Amino acid sequence: MKEIGIVVSGATVGSIPVQIYRSAERHAVEEQLVGVVDRENPGEIVVGFLRRITKLEPVIRDRVRTPYVDKPEMVDYGILLPYTSAIVKPYVTIRDGKIGEVSNVVTPGSKVFLVDASMLESAFQGDYAYVGVHKYSGWALPLDVRYVTHHVGVFGATGMGKSRLVRALINELAARGFKVVVFDHTGVDYAPYYTAVIKSTEVKIPPNILASVIAKMAQLQWQTHGEYLEIATMTYEGKWAKETFVAHLKRTMKRLNARDSTIEKTELYLKQLVDSSFFEELNNRTKTPRDVLSAEATPIVVDLSYDTDLSVKQAIIATVIEAAWAEVKREKTPTRVVFVVDEAQNYAPQTWTISKDAIETTVREGRKWGLSMILASQRIVGDIDPSIRANLGTIFFSRLTAPTDIREISTYLDLADINESVLAQLQPREFFVAGLMNPLRRPVLIKTREVV
Ligand SMILES: Nc1ncnc2c1ncn2[C@@H]1O[C@H](COP(=O)(O)OP(=O)(O)OP(=O)(O)O)[C@@H](O)[C@H]1O
Ligand SMILES: [Mg+2]
Repeated sequence: MKEIGIVVSGATVGSIPVQIYRSAERHAVEEQLVGVVDRENPGEIVVGFLRRITKLEPVIRDRVRTPYVDKPEMVDYGILLPYTSAIVKPYVTIRDGKIGEVSNVVTPGSKVFLVDASMLESAFQGDYAYVGVHKYSGWALPLDVRYVTHHVGVFGATGMGKSRLVRALINELAARGFKVVVFDHTGVDYAPYYTAVIKSTEVKIPPNILASVIAKMAQLQWQTHGEYLEIATMTYEGKWAKETFVAHLKRTMKRLNARDSTIEKTELYLKQLVDSSFFEELNNRTKTPRDVLSAEATPIVVDLSYDTDLSVKQAIIATVIEAAWAEVKREKTPTRVVFVVDEAQNYAPQTWTISKDAIETTVREGRKWGLSMILASQRIVGDIDPSIRANLGTIFFSRLTAPTDIREISTYLDLADINESVLAQLQPREFFVAGLMNPLRRPVLIKTREVV
């Protein structure tokens, strides 16, 4: 291990101030992986990350007026003593190759080293998944796949590599026997890369969800029209066509004593706002959501790009997730299904959408049944409903477009003082990983592996 600095006065269990040797300054970068060996506890290495790198100088001090400022020509560079200070955020200890908690405060004068990736690799052995390596040490961050049941969020500005990272996760989960169901919003991020692909237009939409879609398309208020639509979709028989459905709906509403004005409005809006092609295409929807779930293949991609209407795409997601719930409840045994929803702002935003209840129920209660959710989106606040985002146990985040997003993450995950300016400068493929799947729990900066 290369020695790079020394612990100075003021260490606590949560923060170790250090000074970096002149010769090692090039290693003093934010997020560098380091180890501290307490000179009074030499068998143990405290592993952590360098943060708050600061350049200091004792002669031309900050907030103290010196003559050099007015007469810079007087500066004799030979007498200046610039140095780099930093803090080490301790995460874990390693003793005899085993991981432990940080409980002792390191003694000033102890040495700081660069940690070798192999030391951490041998400390974390087991069936871990890998999607990338720590940016500086090259340590392949082990991910505990069991915690996928606490759900995962992937956030970052456009082009940072969220969809590629999600693909790396999908591959790792599928290889470990999880049934991964990917909802591909655009049809370009996932469908071209996997063999088992189902067109969304093949998937049957059950009556209750179909009623929501029709209400949404026809801009009919659910409170007034929902029940009629539900009953009409449930009792409709035969080939789907707009004319016959509207006639059936009118009869249903009459029978249920709906007011004439309500019936008239419903008919008018349906005729005006819903294309006949929507009804005709219902006839081609022959695959049941159970067909999607019982297919052998994993991952299985549902290509939503075949449906152009957002409420229909939402309906497909709701349909498949609800079918999975029905199955676990019927069988009364947990399963291992992971749903992937990229471009999640379309499916789980703060406003009501057809798919939101299914997603919300899954992140709230899916854990016990082995139903997991991976959500990816550019933003957190605004894109994802608060009760959904608060239930994401693991978060991958890259450069974020809104500064409020990082504060939002910090309300439910310990971010261990990562530097916001580091976050703002992240390059594509660089993500912090925080939360339950990361055995260190607190943020580790990784570069995702090549995903082609
Ligand atoms: N792990 C990776 N391996 C190889 N190339 C990558 C990787 N991650 C990102 N890239 C490159 O960056 C581009 C953008 O990646 P990706 O589509 O995953 O970003 P995104 O965050 O999902 O963006 P958007 O929000 O627009 O969907 C890719 O087309 C690819 O060229
Ligand atoms: Mg993407």
